[in-house]
Amino acid sequence: MWVADPGFRTDAKIVDAFNYAVSKGCTHYFPAAGFDAHVLHRAISGHYLDEYGVKIDPMDEVCPTHGAQEALSLSIQVCARPGDEMVVPEPTYSALIEKLGAFDLRPVFVPLLEGEHWRLDVDAIKSALTEKTRMIYLCDPNNPTGTVCSRAELDALSELLEENKGVSLLLDECYARILYDGSSHYTMLSERALLDQVYVVSSFSKTYAMTGWRLGYVVTGKRNADRIKRLSEEYNGGVSYAVQYAGAAAVKSCSESVRAMVEELDARRRVMMEALAQINDVTFETPKAGFEVFPDFSAYSRDSVSLASALEKEAGVRTMAGARYGPSGEGHIRLVFCAEGRSRIREGISRVSRFIGAQAD
Ligand SMILES: Cc1ncc(COP(=O)(O)O)c(C=O)c1O
Repeated sequence: MWVADPGFRTDAKIVDAFNYAVSKGCTHYFPAAGFDAHVLHRAISGHYLDEYGVKIDPMDEVCPTHGAQEALSLSIQVCARPGDEMVVPEPTYSALIEKLGAFDLRPVFVPLLEGEHWRLDVDAIKSALTEKTRMIYLCDPNNPTGTVCSRAELDALSELLEENKGVSLLLDECYARILYDGSSHYTMLSERALLDQVYVVSSFSKTYAMTGWRLGYVVTGKRNADRIKRLSEEYNGGVSYAVQYAGAAAVKSCSESVRAMVEELDARRRVMMEALAQINDVTFETPKAGFEVFPDFSAYSRDSVSLASALEKEAGVRTMAGARYGPSGEGHIRLVFCAEGRSRIREGISRVSRFIGAQAD
């Protein structure tokens, strides 16, 4: 229950599209004759129009990347310099925090309000800005808390960006289509005026169970997009065309498999919450999106790294220590419900429960 890699097969339509492109000669630097070089760019732009009613220019504003990982790195590289500050509402995606170390940026952590369903504290973000702030990173929906920002929270953040033109927003929307309990996801892309200040990052890994395909993208204003494309070209010559072709098939023809996957994930989420609710003194917020529950184990241990390590060694359950997600994650454990089926989840949580119970005795 540790890594957010969905244990579902990639839809056969996506695999078939990849095989088709390869069989028709898309194994070169350029796509074979008759193939649209920007098929993925157009599909992504179409997705934003259908889903959010937002017009995104497929040629100028969409940059396919090697997973969201590369999308995040390139956006940071285009926007910030070593020594700059990034404001990071947390708990948040652990790899982003690690990335800041790699790029020599200083994280300025702003706690999400745990007592208010991990709400975004825009006033605290405002107070955290300095002349060195180059970016704000927002993971929405949030990994690991499973919360989704409200329209009002995003409006307040838009206002903050309008007032601070030198600050950009790195908006990670990898879980935007994995929503539960009728939750809605809003995107700041609807504010076209802010497009030059916002880097929207997303991934095919989660929505389409394509972690190993390494496909993601950035949507941003043309000037930033040109620089991202240039860097991507210099690093790796761009994303394999057959993978882009498969990604376009995912966006255009796989809404049914996404719906079925989310339905099964929802069932797993409920099983996990039901099992966790049986453990005394462990509290958690109901995740409204994503693959994770982030329970508070601080009644048993304030040291989440030691607790995660003991759970692995003693109970045979691999989890992630909450401290990896920022200072406010301490005392929590991140549990993933996307990788294993319902009975394994029940078994896993009952082992956690037995281990915790034995410690308390
Ligand atoms: C919030 C978030 N952003 C980005 C990523 C990276 O996604 P990708 O597999 O596309 O690199 C992950 C993967 O766990 C994630 O949870």
